[in-house]
Amino acid sequence: MNPTTFVLFGATGDLAKRKIYPALYHLYIHGKLPEAFSVIGLGRKEMTDETFKAHVKQSLYDFYRLNVKEDDSLQSFLGLFGFNILHIDDTDHFVRLKDRVEAWEQGIGGTSNRLFYLSVAPNFFGTIASQIENSGLGSVTGWKRLVIEKPFGHDVASARELNDQLSQAFAEEEIYRIDHYLGKSMVQRLEALKQANPVIQALWTNRFIANVQITADETVGVEERAGYYDKAGALRDMFQNHMMQLLMMLTIHAPHNMASAENVQLKKKQVLEALDPLQKQDVLTNIVRGQYTAGSIQGKPVPAYTAEPGISEGSMNDTFIAAKLHIDNYYWRGVPFYIRTGKRLASKSTRIVIEFKEPLTTATQAEQATVPNLLVIEIGPKEGITLQLNAKDPDHPTGFKPVYIDMYPDRKEAQEAYETLIHDALNGDSTFFVHWDEVDLSWQWVQPILEAFAANEVPLHPYAAGSHGPEAAHELLAADGFHWWFDEEDEAGKAASEPLVEQVTAS
Ligand code: BG6
Repeated sequence: MNPTTFVLFGATGDLAKRKIYPALYHLYIHGKLPEAFSVIGLGRKEMTDETFKAHVKQSLYDFYRLNVKEDDSLQSFLGLFGFNILHIDDTDHFVRLKDRVEAWEQGIGGTSNRLFYLSVAPNFFGTIASQIENSGLGSVTGWKRLVIEKPFGHDVASARELNDQLSQAFAEEEIYRIDHYLGKSMVQRLEALKQANPVIQALWTNRFIANVQITADETVGVEERAGYYDKAGALRDMFQNHMMQLLMMLTIHAPHNMASAENVQLKKKQVLEALDPLQKQDVLTNIVRGQYTAGSIQGKPVPAYTAEPGISEGSMNDTFIAAKLHIDNYYWRGVPFYIRTGKRLASKSTRIVIEFKEPLTTATQAEQATVPNLLVIEIGPKEGITLQLNAKDPDHPTGFKPVYIDMYPDRKEAQEAYETLIHDALNGDSTFFVHWDEVDLSWQWVQPILEAFAANEVPLHPYAAGSHGPEAAHELLAADGFHWWFDEEDEAGKAASEPLVEQVTAS
């Protein structure tokens, strides 16, 4: 890998200490960082290099997922770090930063590859991008890249404005927009699952699939993020980005020999273009908006959303959303996609369930209870792929029982999304980053929902904390003759989704 300077804006912030330093450390001890590498942390308060290194070290002890070894490699890792004060309006600070970066680059032979990581609020992005440009920091002999985090705007107009600001200093191919769901290992494996298995590839169409369910249930509430979350809601916080990304990654058909970053991004864009657009009047029938009331999570009582610190009593914010979507293309026409995400639900579970069409039934088979074949892709916190089939039940000669084939039994410790994503950004691989077209098209799709929510044209369904969400979300599927498939290990789910059956192991 080329010598690189990693310029980190927001170096004393939460994301840096929780995710970025532990990920860099992991990459370093596994020999996955460039040999010549330096990190310049930037923050608003003066700090010596030594104090900064101590801060980085502490964050490893607090947040690295494995053990930190107090050894030479930890010392040499910390040796990569330096700190500069930076107020984003102060041009002198950018000049000082440039001098420091250049001095380091000269010491290692003069090549300049610079990765600018903006771990700051998006309202600073525009100023930072133009300061990088004007100070000359953006003039490099090698490459320059910009890594940014969500949210990319709060609606179509603001996302476009933000993009215009960034485009003044960076070309699209230099911008790496992080959606941490794309860094999850099961999401990254979806394409391989299809590519490597002709059987699955063959089934991946509307001929065999009855419906697809994409779920990201959470047990946490608003946490300490009331200021942000009460304006964002589940629609902006999870749906427009993470859930739409899962939908795209699941439904693209990228030919085997064409799975380059450009191709994957092009195919994803085509999925969004093929989505049936929502008209305002469809919002009522295809979208369910919910908000949690008081309840209990894992036996502990928790307050209603509107009683959470920092949330106004009359807040109409969505903490839950369920939606029905259709992709109008050759492969998916006629297959309903149900997406659901919410806070304070019964379990933490991100999963995709593909329900296959029922087999052709004869008169006798109709009397025998089978359940649909399911392909369940567990994305987090547990990972796995399970195929649920029907087998003859030896105890009931005329009956069937489901058997489960675990297609992913030898799983290792999951990689942390940031480890993969930072490594990819340093390598210039943008396959698992979000292209501007995806941001723009996904905001366009959700825009009528944003407007209907803002105008309060959609009911806000209450649901008890610890439940499976509002009744209306169950009715959304029931109207089509389906029901949500919850995690079978989750007792509350068992009660709510009917034909959950004894688990047997496939032989
Ligand atoms: C973040 C959202 O992007 O994703 C949070 O802002 C949410 O509200 C989180 O809790 C969920 O991520 P994960 O990886 O825990 O599913």
